[in-house]
Amino acid sequence: QTVYLNDYQAPEYLVDRTELTFDLDPQSTLVKSHLKIRRNPVAADSGGRSLPPLWLDGVDLELLSIAEDGELLPAQRYQEEPGGLSLTVTKPEFELEIQTRIAPESNTSLEGLYLSNGMYCTQCEAEGFRKITFYPDRPDVMSVFTTTIVAPAKYPVLLSNGNKVDSGTTDDGRLRVTWEDPFAKPSYLFALVAGDLQYVEDSFTTSTGRAVTLQLFTEARNIGKCEHAMVSLKHAMRWDEVVYGREYDLDIFMIVAVDHFNMGAMENKGLNIFNSACVLASPETATDAAFQRIESIVAHEYFHNWSGNRVTCRDWFQLSLKEGFTVFRDAEFSADMNSRAVKRIEDVTLLRTAQFAEDAGPMSHPVRPDSYMEISNFYTLTIYEKGAEIVRMIHTILGADAFRRGSDLYFQRHDGCAVTCEDFVVAMEDANGADLKQFRRWYSQAGTPIIEVEDEYDAERAQYSLTLRQRTPATPGQEEKLPLHIPVAIGLLGADGKALVLDKFGSTDTVLHLTEESQTFTFQDIDERPLPSLLRGFSAPVKLRYGYTGEQLQFLMQHDADAFNRWDACQRLALNTLSSLQGQYRAGETLDTPSALIDGFSVLLQNSELDPALVAKMLALPSAQELAEQGDEIDAAAIVAARDFARQSIAVALKPLFLARYQALDQRKPYRPTADDIARRGLKNTCLAYLCMTQDQDALALARTQFERDENMTDVSAALAAMVEYGPKDAAEQTLESFYRQWQQDTQVVETWFGLQSSSAGFGTLDRVRELMAHPAFEMKNPNKVRAVVGGFAMRNFNQFHHEDGSGYEFLADQVIALDKLNPQIASRLVTPLTRWKKYRKHEAGQIHSALKRISDSGELSADLYEMVSKSLA
Ligand code: ARG
Ligand code: ZN
Repeated sequence: QTVYLNDYQAPEYLVDRTELTFDLDPQSTLVKSHLKIRRNPVAADSGGRSLPPLWLDGVDLELLSIAEDGELLPAQRYQEEPGGLSLTVTKPEFELEIQTRIAPESNTSLEGLYLSNGMYCTQCEAEGFRKITFYPDRPDVMSVFTTTIVAPAKYPVLLSNGNKVDSGTTDDGRLRVTWEDPFAKPSYLFALVAGDLQYVEDSFTTSTGRAVTLQLFTEARNIGKCEHAMVSLKHAMRWDEVVYGREYDLDIFMIVAVDHFNMGAMENKGLNIFNSACVLASPETATDAAFQRIESIVAHEYFHNWSGNRVTCRDWFQLSLKEGFTVFRDAEFSADMNSRAVKRIEDVTLLRTAQFAEDAGPMSHPVRPDSYMEISNFYTLTIYEKGAEIVRMIHTILGADAFRRGSDLYFQRHDGCAVTCEDFVVAMEDANGADLKQFRRWYSQAGTPIIEVEDEYDAERAQYSLTLRQRTPATPGQEEKLPLHIPVAIGLLGADGKALVLDKFGSTDTVLHLTEESQTFTFQDIDERPLPSLLRGFSAPVKLRYGYTGEQLQFLMQHDADAFNRWDACQRLALNTLSSLQGQYRAGETLDTPSALIDGFSVLLQNSELDPALVAKMLALPSAQELAEQGDEIDAAAIVAARDFARQSIAVALKPLFLARYQALDQRKPYRPTADDIARRGLKNTCLAYLCMTQDQDALALARTQFERDENMTDVSAALAAMVEYGPKDAAEQTLESFYRQWQQDTQVVETWFGLQSSSAGFGTLDRVRELMAHPAFEMKNPNKVRAVVGGFAMRNFNQFHHEDGSGYEFLADQVIALDKLNPQIASRLVTPLTRWKKYRKHEAGQIHSALKRISDSGELSADLYEMVSKSLA
């Protein structure tokens, strides 16, 4: 059942008001809805002769009764069909009262209304509201919601969207609360929470002087872990006022932490619901990475209040309208709060590793897809991250001020509406008299463009020219590709490392607008042959090829004015080195010492001027996953061998430098999650990992000391990981055991403990992973635990997952089949590594293919999993 963008039709009926009453019970929750419905004037083009039927989506619901304008509807007026209810309509305006029964306790899909550790909560995006009641569950139907929750007194906290307008107790002693959300919204932004929760409270005064109450709800045991999220929220609220002129609009903003959650978080109007792991943190239990992730996700969900809620999506093909834009907004926020270059490096690494792979695989799709089977499968890196890159390119092409004019117009023009990606681009054009006609192709064309660059220097004429050629490889369903408008930011370096002047205005950097298949850009008055610094700041999501020599890359590593490109030069050097090592391994030759990398790293380690976070990023070799994406054919064994050999060689050659740097950075001060301190710990722990790779006693002793000092989870888990990966096995077992005993009450730390083992190249064997799944703390119904153990193994343990006997693939197939019965969204995510089978060598490709085939033959699959598996096998 494929849905096509071209089939979009405006809704036949609108719902002006939605009044909901929930009578909560684990097995028998009663949901009453009262809907004020009217014919959509926009759709009323049938000449007004007869009224079309009203379609209400509904899944896994027990229909108890349905009444129109106070009278029970006779059976011939409606029909229950798969996926919903069709109603005969007799008048253009009417009110419906519908009663349904649902069983939150049995809902393991974590979509709709469900229970998590005894707390009721909801997740409605994209199509979860239809698991709560019969409703036109589509984002272009926007309604004003009033929600009444009735629950036994053991659920003292009852929350929904908007403002609390009434509360009391029922005759039989249950609690009753009513919430009203004055802003019309689609059903996917509805939320309800009921539980025995504690909260922390703060307040924020908006730019126009309105006071907003901020509340963060969690189970009592986690109440000490709320501060960082609260601080992040206030930063985000201020930032959106300053950078986008966007003010918060309700009197209260609430966040709730939930342990069982399919993704990171959800931007429900006034009531954001978060995966606990993405909101709760304390120095003792959360790593620096978790602190930074929390800051960015809190901001992301908050920013959705404008880019998503006030202006929402017309249909789910437009998902990137809100997600791409909001990811761009949160990335810029994080860049402003921390190190801009480091944030960019992290985002680009994710894009190159995972989004490029997606774009080259069977699920490749444009940022605005043309079709889908199951929308949940399209919450992808392409929609989110590549979508954000598109918005970033518009920002680059127009400039910051013009971009702001465009976003102002967009919010003003479309406030309260459900719109399209096209509307966004048009606002950007209209506000600036700009032309983004060709640029629009980025939304409709899938695949990663490749740009080949050649240059020429004419000493006599003092003229330098760059020739850029673009092409985009074919993707499923899109054979022909058209040239894109690609902004390529560049600079030129002279032999002394200084930036050369590029034009008569004295600029030392510029953006080339590549619009043709092939284009030459010429620079005058260039007095020496320059070294080009290309695609600065990763100005477009492309693969750029230029034949840099090793010396040139080392030169850029040290002299490029663009910090991102300094890192990128280092990456290119590492990729070249690792690719020749892989070749040597495959040819059965002895592997060459990676001396260019060793030299480059040696210089880096002795440079105390450079941001330590940047140095840490440069010292990290590309992951096995990234190497896999780079080559034409994945040889897992060669990748692992090349990478291990290079890391070992570097560790041994530079041990004294790693040690000196480690000691210099190992300052004992109280934990703070500031950019500077995070940078220091990041580089220190990178050095520690290299030191431990040598497996020398003194290095492992440093890890043990750091572990036992027990100061913060960043340092403790880094030391533990090093001991597990490189230390003697018996000692590792004991240390893991005592760590678990210390932290077994803390879910978050237990997840770290699971993930550290399952993703360990040496320790995380399949046997170990099976043991972890049998551990009492493992829960198949908790996505965080599944991601930590099964995901850690299949997505972050290249070495063991690709064991030559194929057992890793068979194991993953078993887990996917089992999970599909409980939680299709998680099953569908987890199958991803298997979908790339075509890229592997024949032997592995055959093994992975048969694992996929076994899933496909295992019985009836969910729509989510079916789409992934059938498209991969096609
Ligand atoms: N809108 C949420 C967020 O970004 C994600 C919702 C994901 N839904 C899903 N079915 N996977 O920010
Ligand atoms: Zn989002």
